[in-house]
Amino acid sequence: MREGDHVLDEGRQGEATVVAGPGAGARKLYLESYGCQMNFSDSEIVASILSDAGYQTTRDEDEADLVLLNTCAIRDNAEQRVRNRLVHFKGNKAKNPSLVVGVLGCMAERLREKLLEEEKLVDLVVGPDAYRDLPNLVDQVEGGQKAVNVLLSREETYAEISPVRLDSSGVTAFISIMRGCDNMCSFCVVPFTRGRERSRDPQSIVREAQELYDAGYREVTLLGQNVDSYKWNIDNKGVIKDETQPVVRFAELLEMVAAVNPGLRVRFSTSHPKDMTDDVLHAMSRHENICKYIHLPVQSGHSDVLKRMNRGYTREWYLDRIAAIRRIMPDCAISTDVITGFCGETEEEHQATLSLMDEVKYEMAFMFKYSERPKTLAERKFEDDVPEEVKGSRLQEVIARQMIHGKERTQALVGKVHRVLIEGTSKKRDDQFFGRTTHNTVVVFPKGDLQVGQYVNVKTFDCTPVTLMGEVTDQPAES
Ligand code: SAH
Ligand code: SF4
Ligand code: F3S
Repeated sequence: MREGDHVLDEGRQGEATVVAGPGAGARKLYLESYGCQMNFSDSEIVASILSDAGYQTTRDEDEADLVLLNTCAIRDNAEQRVRNRLVHFKGNKAKNPSLVVGVLGCMAERLREKLLEEEKLVDLVVGPDAYRDLPNLVDQVEGGQKAVNVLLSREETYAEISPVRLDSSGVTAFISIMRGCDNMCSFCVVPFTRGRERSRDPQSIVREAQELYDAGYREVTLLGQNVDSYKWNIDNKGVIKDETQPVVRFAELLEMVAAVNPGLRVRFSTSHPKDMTDDVLHAMSRHENICKYIHLPVQSGHSDVLKRMNRGYTREWYLDRIAAIRRIMPDCAISTDVITGFCGETEEEHQATLSLMDEVKYEMAFMFKYSERPKTLAERKFEDDVPEEVKGSRLQEVIARQMIHGKERTQALVGKVHRVLIEGTSKKRDDQFFGRTTHNTVVVFPKGDLQVGQYVNVKTFDCTPVTLMGEVTDQPAES
């Protein structure tokens, strides 16, 4: 889940997840992750690198020799939460002076040495492209020095590192397909914290998907800040690098991963409205195992705001992309991200966001109040002039509208038979499993003698605003 304000989907991961995984060694690593799915995926790379260096992950912070917080800088409240945790770990350090505390991820990249200076809470600061250096840096700290590596890279994709799957049910997994972002959305800190966009070798992606399938996983989510601009063997200007090798864009990559096994579901996030082509939509429609679900962040429903946000599309362009999805896959679920109270947002512009929501009727949305971030285009160019209360009341209106649409969307699925991948035991009832439909809607149903990782057809008879209730059936699935 996004470090997040308001999310209308209960089935997602927790805000900060404490992770523990396999590994053999004497020293204990306690790793806490914040922010987007890419950060959670990076934590699995970090666990892998440190497991090779002899660390074993633990869920118990009190037995840790090394505490790492993999942090998010997207909004100010994300950073505040981490600061509070750092103060907490200072207490642990007082009890155990040899404890090493480090900050990884986007806040490390944004604040760099400043984090070492601030109240002496941290020993180690490591940016998202420097994780291979972690074992050396930890040694350096144990030798009595502070350690920092925040170098960003144009090449690093951690392609051949086998992630240690953390907090995993063994059914669903993330695969990072690219890193960084070359878009300069004016509100966004990610290009500064994650560096330039680069794509990962498609063969290593397919290999990872195959290994996951062989290990019993049944769903992979391909991750990137803008998956539609994935490209291999071709540069930004369209020049092919090696004529003897195929060019792979996102549509081709999707089909390559879908071909690993029809029993492996494929999801992806995040799509960018300016780059999402019909090719991708056709690839989705050709493969039953590519889930019919697209996260297509709109941010605002007014073209003038989109221009100030430097998003690269207009309201009309966005609605044309929605129309293309509906045309090529009438049954596809769509979710979005919305920001309220961006610089200069008028009441009329805010109303345009609500009217766009009415037109699309999203299944789900992540909704945020604008939070000004240092160094971004918006911080330099515009005034953060929408009062906090107005940002807040607009957010409430957007949330209320989404509640109506989400509920309507869920209700429309009641009475139908859905193909569901079983992910685990329901949070509320021990005798029930939960799983997801292709549309990413959570379904709960009695366990019977089924097992996690199986596909079942479930006929639904009721719902809450975000969850379907049903029973396993022999009837064919309608979705
Ligand atoms: N790459 C993705 C989004 C990454 S950040 C994309 O382009 O859609 C996830 C979401 O956080 C964004 O879609 C946006 O809605 C929100 N966000 C980013 N910066 C923000 C800021 N400064 N204030 C409030 N919300 C922000
Ligand atoms: Fe940020 Fe825009 Fe890149 Fe998304 S596409 S990560 S919002 S700069
Ligand atoms: Fe946060 Fe960095 Fe992700 S800023 S949203 S953890 S890319």
